[in-house]
Amino acid sequence: MANRIYIFDTTLRDGEQVPGCQLTTNEKVQVALELERLGVDVIEAGFPISSPGDFRSVVEIAKAVTNPTVCALSRAVAGDIDAAGEALKHAKRGRIHTGIGASDIHIRNKFSSTREAILEQAVRAVKHARTYVDDVEFYAEDAGRANLDFLCRLTEAVIKAGATVVNIPDTTGYCLPGEYGEKIKHIYNCVPNVDKATISIHCHNDLGLATANSLSGIMNGARQIECTINGIGERAGNTSLEEVVMAMNVHKELGFETGIDTTRLYPVSQLVSGLMRMPVQANKAIVGRNAFAHSSGIHQDGHLKHTENYEIMNPLDVGVDKSLIILTARSGRHALKHRLELLGYRYDRPTLDTIYTRFLDMADVRKEVNDKDLMELVR
Ligand code: KIV
Ligand code: ZN
Repeated sequence: MANRIYIFDTTLRDGEQVPGCQLTTNEKVQVALELERLGVDVIEAGFPISSPGDFRSVVEIAKAVTNPTVCALSRAVAGDIDAAGEALKHAKRGRIHTGIGASDIHIRNKFSSTREAILEQAVRAVKHARTYVDDVEFYAEDAGRANLDFLCRLTEAVIKAGATVVNIPDTTGYCLPGEYGEKIKHIYNCVPNVDKATISIHCHNDLGLATANSLSGIMNGARQIECTINGIGERAGNTSLEEVVMAMNVHKELGFETGIDTTRLYPVSQLVSGLMRMPVQANKAIVGRNAFAHSSGIHQDGHLKHTENYEIMNPLDVGVDKSLIILTARSGRHALKHRLELLGYRYDRPTLDTIYTRFLDMADVRKEVNDKDLMELVR
């Protein structure tokens, strides 16, 4: 299916790199099983060479899940690839994700190397990874700032060496959406064997553009998005899975499809947030506490007249059981009347006006008026 977008979840690898968010092996298996239920295509389970615990986690996840491909990260060095290959021994479908810096900034400052030497190392790494698994993804780290001609040569060479997926990461979250999309388009136009591999995108959120860049990537031909639950990840995080999935879902005219059961988005978000002790910001798109909460009088009145007025998706579609009307000093009579009626109180207009005046006094002091406060008020 030409417009099927593969969802590669890296919550347990890039996401877990967040300071203080480390999980035990059992917790990682629990998250992996929920990701499987959510319908992700690939679970990046860890970086096996990095620690015995991470190695064990990849082994256990590979044993526990059935449908998603299980992926293990490695640098483009033999020892890393051996550890990844070993950890994936029990996977029904295993993928090694290997790669190296592709920008001149990385080539110079990280590797003190040259483009030619990096290209040779990349090809060697992919060939070595293919001795363990048939599915090898190559990442061209810092592709967002890499020379485009070199990126095309590198992509062509790793595909020739056996890469089935080529990841073009915006590692530093540097690109603008138009610029990133153009890079992907250029790769499609200039790499002769590009149709032998899937082009993947992996965007970081340093400028708050990860979701926009990912969408721009798929609109220009990429067919795999790398993302995390709640957008967690290095520094400002990765592309948020729930955001890209719902953007495709709401904008059906784009014609993209995923295998995601969107009704599992909110439960998985809560699970990851709880296990990682990483609260979801209240105004986070899709899964934040306020994502379906209406608090100003104009919005509440509009929402009560028709949900379509201020909601572009049904909360049930993302696993949130209902929208909320938050009663604050910005609320109007319509919202107050609605809430009172839900609590079983009906009033004529003059009485409602009196209650509304008292309600505003209370709301100015308490900021948010809950049902208990309201009962106190009407009594
Ligand atoms: O951001 C990045 O470039 C990465 C790679 C390891 C894929 O996380
Ligand atoms: Zn990353």
